[in-house]
Amino acid sequence: MLRPSERRSWVRIAILTSGGDAPGMNAAVRAVARTAFSMGWQPMKVESGYKGLLEGDISPIDRRKLGGIIGRGGTVLGTERSKEFQAPDGQQAAIRRLEEAGVEGLVVIGGEGSLTGAMKLSERGVEVVGIPATIDNDVWGTEIAIGVDTALNTALETIDRIKDTASSHHRAHVIEVMGRNCGYLALMSAIAGGAEAVLVPEFEPDPEDLIGFMRKAYEQGKSHFIVVAAEGAKLSAKEFDEYVNSTRTYESRLTVIGHAQRGGIPTAFDRILGSRLGTAAVEALAAGQHGVMVALTGELIGTLPLEEVIGKLRPLDPQMYRMAGVLSALPE
Ligand code: F6P
Repeated sequence: MLRPSERRSWVRIAILTSGGDAPGMNAAVRAVARTAFSMGWQPMKVESGYKGLLEGDISPIDRRKLGGIIGRGGTVLGTERSKEFQAPDGQQAAIRRLEEAGVEGLVVIGGEGSLTGAMKLSERGVEVVGIPATIDNDVWGTEIAIGVDTALNTALETIDRIKDTASSHHRAHVIEVMGRNCGYLALMSAIAGGAEAVLVPEFEPDPEDLIGFMRKAYEQGKSHFIVVAAEGAKLSAKEFDEYVNSTRTYESRLTVIGHAQRGGIPTAFDRILGSRLGTAAVEALAAGQHGVMVALTGELIGTLPLEEVIGKLRPLDPQMYRMAGVLSALPE
């Protein structure tokens, strides 16, 4: 394939979103397409992620259809998981589909699994740039991925609401937030929501210690006891809720926020991040950079090789975890 930078005129680049959707993906799609138009290129849309790519579901983007999408949750391109694409034959078939559509560059928007797919295509010679988008914030190499800020605020709103009723009823509430492998959403929403405890896959408290802490809160007359648990925590939200109910202290209720965290209107932060990363992805392709992911470091957007990103997870900050404990400590 020719590098876009080597082409003087019409360059076709394709955009796909893959894996779990994340609010702000549409801002990135719009930014990729509009930046491509500004360079005189033709952006193409791939519908339904890698599955759509294998089915050759690739067509030109109509500029007028981009209007208004920046404020919409989900992804206008659709997303699906594809087992077939994970096999080498699937990847080869995907490359044929791109060639048939005359595509010279590809932008993949998604989480670790989707970016792994992007790296596989890059290893086979496709000029690919990845954009990190997942509410879990577990992609290595970027401070924050698209969708995290919106999901965090959604979780926080639920925690605040639950705290009201918990205090009225003098109850414990265990709230499960998403995060299969990563406790970022749980930890940050617990800090922002002033929760009494947090359960994350990365650091596990001793259940007995936690119950002891809860008992002390109860005996001190604390009106509520809020626990935020990541979906992937080893001591699960359901187990801990049952544990609390087996004690003669607070009555406990369990709330699983679930997919409500993935939907909804993207925050200003996610729209701006999506716009910046989308623009940077096209600029990278234009500069002949590929096999990379665009990422936020401090205030700046940069690029790093996909092979550095894949196979690692963004670590949870142990200092933040310790801070959550300090801020929820009870008086002696
Ligand atoms: O988007 C990532 C994530 O939210 C994980 O935290 C969660 O385990 C997973 O998606 C669930 O996704 P689905 O139900 O779409 O498979």
